[in-house]
Amino acid sequence: MATVSTPHRASVVEGGVVYKQNLSEFVQEDQKVFFGATDRNKEAILEKLRPFLNEARLVLEVGSGSGQHLYHFSKDYPEVTFQPSEYDTSLFHSINAYAMELPGHLIKRPLELDATNRDHWSTVLHAGHEEESYGPASGNGVYDLVLTTNVFHISAWVVGQSIVRGAGQVLKPGGHFILYGAFKRNGKFSTPSNEQFDQTLRGRDASWGVRDIEAIEEVARKEAQMELKNVIDMPSNNYMLIFQKVELEE
Ligand SMILES: C[S@@+](CC[C@H](N)C(=O)[O-])C[C@H]1O[C@@H](n2cnc3c(N)ncnc32)[C@H](O)[C@@H]1O
Repeated sequence: MATVSTPHRASVVEGGVVYKQNLSEFVQEDQKVFFGATDRNKEAILEKLRPFLNEARLVLEVGSGSGQHLYHFSKDYPEVTFQPSEYDTSLFHSINAYAMELPGHLIKRPLELDATNRDHWSTVLHAGHEEESYGPASGNGVYDLVLTTNVFHISAWVVGQSIVRGAGQVLKPGGHFILYGAFKRNGKFSTPSNEQFDQTLRGRDASWGVRDIEAIEEVARKEAQMELKNVIDMPSNNYMLIFQKVELEE
């Protein structure tokens, strides 16, 4: 059994099968990585995404992880094109394995996306233009929806800031940027357990931590032409944040 180090987790590879250690659990079947937390929150997230997926043609996920979420969303939305992306390219096999279980559905091959890398965002933008036949030369946003779940607290703040800026770059005017996860409001934790969670995260990696909604909102407004439209309470003291990129003036 070989151990592969990634910046975030240890992966154990045995007979071509990869076991990923999440914060507290890991399970594995075939080539697909399975995160228990992702499985538990997928339905609650989908229910809130439905109004947006009903209107969307092209969706980017930042930090697709195992691919479980896009698989779950695509099952109900076979006509929507989903573009997965992942920082940890060793997870591509899992994202592809889930996608292959939905033949005829529109889950694209994952793209490598380190949110702090501008070239990666250019690739994401060009991939969207090719999908929509806009031509690769245009710098305009093309995605209807950019989605990211459980990324902001398990990465450095600069990663979160970069995701907000990147979303503002690749979204169409009027498109939505949706985040799900644990957040603080006005610098305050929603519960003592979320404060404890923050301490645990920072103990694992000093650059991680539960982010403040107002800090994200400031970056979105000042640097990404996006406005915070709604904050939705989600199970287990999580939130969903709905941003919208400003419409072009007629
Ligand atoms: C806990 S996983 C969440 C995976 C998946 N979204 C889910 O909910 O199951 C944390 C994610 O943070 C992402 N991440 C960490 N650093 C990143 C970076 N520099 N750029 C983009 N994503 C990053 C990783 O891609 C990883 O998938």
